[in-house]
Amino acid sequence: MRVLVIGKGGREHALCWRLNQSPSVWKLFCTIGNPGINSLATPVPIEPNDIHKLAEFARQEKIDLTVVGPEEPLTLGIADEFAARGLTLIGPSKAAAQLEASKSFAKQIMCEAGVPTAAFAVFDDIEQARGYVRDLNRPLVVKADGLAAGKGVSVCDGPAAALAAIDAAMERQVFGAAGKRVVIEERLSGQELSFFALCDGKNALALGMAQDHKPIFDGDRGPNTGGMGAYSPVPQFDAGLEERIMGEVVRPTLDVMASRGCPFRGVLFVGLMVDGARLNVLEFNVRLGDPECEALMMRLEGDLAAALLAAARGDLSAEHLSLSARSAVAVVLASGGYPGNYEKGLPITGLESIEGGAPSDVKVRWAMEQVRVKVFHAGTASRSGRLVTDGGRVLVASALAPKLKDAAAAAYQAADMIEFSGKHLRRDIAGKALGALQT
Ligand code: AMP
Ligand code: GLY
Repeated sequence: MRVLVIGKGGREHALCWRLNQSPSVWKLFCTIGNPGINSLATPVPIEPNDIHKLAEFARQEKIDLTVVGPEEPLTLGIADEFAARGLTLIGPSKAAAQLEASKSFAKQIMCEAGVPTAAFAVFDDIEQARGYVRDLNRPLVVKADGLAAGKGVSVCDGPAAALAAIDAAMERQVFGAAGKRVVIEERLSGQELSFFALCDGKNALALGMAQDHKPIFDGDRGPNTGGMGAYSPVPQFDAGLEERIMGEVVRPTLDVMASRGCPFRGVLFVGLMVDGARLNVLEFNVRLGDPECEALMMRLEGDLAAALLAAARGDLSAEHLSLSARSAVAVVLASGGYPGNYEKGLPITGLESIEGGAPSDVKVRWAMEQVRVKVFHAGTASRSGRLVTDGGRVLVASALAPKLKDAAAAAYQAADMIEFSGKHLRRDIAGKALGALQT
């Protein structure tokens, strides 16, 4: 089939890389592209949010399946636009994408579906929000209702911080319209986990779990980023957890969405807090995570394109996907200054010496440990034939190995072979799991 991938980062490079290995794919396109993606897919010079032009392109090029990476086109209604033209796309409708675009909508669905989540209240009125925080006088989390580029959530120790967060969102409107309404919820503790399920509106296939590392610095310190690294599986959680998440979260959510007339087709990303046997949903997203996708794509087995097509057509029942028992680790190499301001256009070296050209001692070790290494491009560009930085998250050094510790060592070895001025990475990706495995 002819497949179009929408998006232009590390997640989309990983998707293209995996789709390229699907027996059913014979031609791949990707919007905008980057030097990594362009080695696998024909670049399409249409921005991911230009949903009308993309639909026109898909019609002209007789695209059999369109796969959407980021949330924005989905919340703009790309699935509806494609459906209206009889084009096949995997991703939820605008109505179903509300699960990510509105935190109050997501909470309502969770309540109706009996999905475990933190106790909460929703406010459109700033005085009522302030009163609620003063009355409760305990650690709370204040969330802008709408999309705020990952910055709309404030985890607060006490009422002073919560009141400041309410002021920022509702009075100073630092998140624009996204913060006119806020969700205020109980602050939970535990370990965070990302879980993914491919859904056809009624049924779901588990795509596995991963753990992200959102803060910029080691030990989860500093401001939040889009994600500084991920690994999968997450061995500190037992195998029963996946079945629980499917049974207690994914299936009831699909049932409620269907009964409301907005069935969910696409990848449901469940952000969870797990504390012993207690699990709570923090948020839903309506797409794969980045960099979780990079780790998952290293492990995924089976014909991904065929499964995505079946889900898009509304019948996953005959499909199987499995994940390798091996472990994947994905380490993000970021620009100096990210998630704040950073420079672009800095030359990147060392990549050529990883895939294929690694020094013989490194190659021998990777072969002995049965390690597979892949570097995904997130924010890179080609200028006068040179590879340069072009974003906050630049590259994602990823490795797959029978043992998590070998995957982490190989991902870091690859990360250390790549150089660009200001390169920043976290040194503790998969650290929570490796610590847990040792104890
Ligand atoms: P969200 O966008 O809702 O996933 O929130 C972003 C981050 O805020 C999460 O990854 C958590 O680290 C944190 N967070 C969100 N909700 C809570 C909560 N109820 N308790 C503690 N931390 C939370
Ligand atoms: N890594 C978190 C996200 O994609 O939202």
